[in-house]
Amino acid sequence: MDKKKILILPGDGVGPEAINEVKKIIDFFNKKKILDIEIEEELVGGACIDAFKLPIKDETIEKARKSDAVLLGAVGGPKWDNLPFDQRPEQGLLRLRSDLQLFANLRPAISFDPLVHASSLKSEIIKGLDILIVRELTGGVYFGEPRGIIDLGNGKRKGLNTQVYTTDEIIRVARVAFELAKKRKKILVSVEKSNVMESGKLWREEVEKLGKKEYPEVDLKHMYADNCAMQLIRNPKQFDIILTDNLFGDLLSDAAAMLTGSLGMLPSASLGEINNGNYLSGLYEPVHGSAPDIAGKNIANPIATILSFSMMLFYSFNNKKISQIIDNSVKKVLDGGFRTEDIMDEKSKKVGTKDMGDLIIKEMKKNF
Ligand code: IPM
Ligand code: MG
Repeated sequence: MDKKKILILPGDGVGPEAINEVKKIIDFFNKKKILDIEIEEELVGGACIDAFKLPIKDETIEKARKSDAVLLGAVGGPKWDNLPFDQRPEQGLLRLRSDLQLFANLRPAISFDPLVHASSLKSEIIKGLDILIVRELTGGVYFGEPRGIIDLGNGKRKGLNTQVYTTDEIIRVARVAFELAKKRKKILVSVEKSNVMESGKLWREEVEKLGKKEYPEVDLKHMYADNCAMQLIRNPKQFDIILTDNLFGDLLSDAAAMLTGSLGMLPSASLGEINNGNYLSGLYEPVHGSAPDIAGKNIANPIATILSFSMMLFYSFNNKKISQIIDNSVKKVLDGGFRTEDIMDEKSKKVGTKDMGDLIIKEMKKNF
């Protein structure tokens, strides 16, 4: 593989520990000359607030723009909960998404066979589950204007956010979902609340139009977001790809993730414009948060972050082979009965964050 430059942003809580395990993996591939990855590291979130009094530096955004891909740990924690809105750790992440225009967020929810019992749902409902949520990531109510808290006088206030989508914003993310659907089961469910929201009505109309015109081979269905939430719990295997907006995607992806047993297992990719089959920029991060309560104890599950690196190889570097080797090694370690605390059951062997990383590397080594 050509030389690649990646920016690593470990962030807060369990972020740095999980990222450490990925660094070990990168080290292994670099030493073996299987990959040639140069790493740069910067602060983001609370860690950056502590050091520089802001959630991300402009230089870091520039570095992210110039790198081939970005790997992020997690941001946030109770220490920074009382800061004003625009200074909170989450703003570091939101600025990265928005400034780099990473409008398509891919969140796979895959049930690993050895973990079917870790789910709170019955095994037959989730065994073999493999769904992908495509969440719009740079628009909607997260970024819509006007927004703010307005003083109404007499001690009363008004909180205001705006849900807004343009045709272009809808079409570009829908296109990503349709393209992925073509490579998977050719079924796509687009989710909104077109029964109560104009932005949802536009969403439905534009997705429908695009599907008819350019992707007739994909079986497109529409679903209201509340029904989708219910269907995800009732019969999740009816879905293959779910396309939805920023806020609904945030909620539905947490629900979908938990079907699989643990948030500690799920990676994500946030992608921008495609050029010649390659995504121009990509930010990869686990779906889970910073989990401050378990940080620094060597108990966090590093698998979501490791699988995020695997997604980077797949989507940004087009290295499907190594991506596959990493995914398979994770499966093998789970098959071997090794578990971090979040996915532990009575029959398994409990291991810490570092051991989990080492075990996965040991499996990977068998391929070379
Ligand atoms: C996510 C997170 C973020 C979001 C937060 C940390 C800003 O919940 O990536 O799902 O709401 O998008
Ligand atoms: Mg979320």
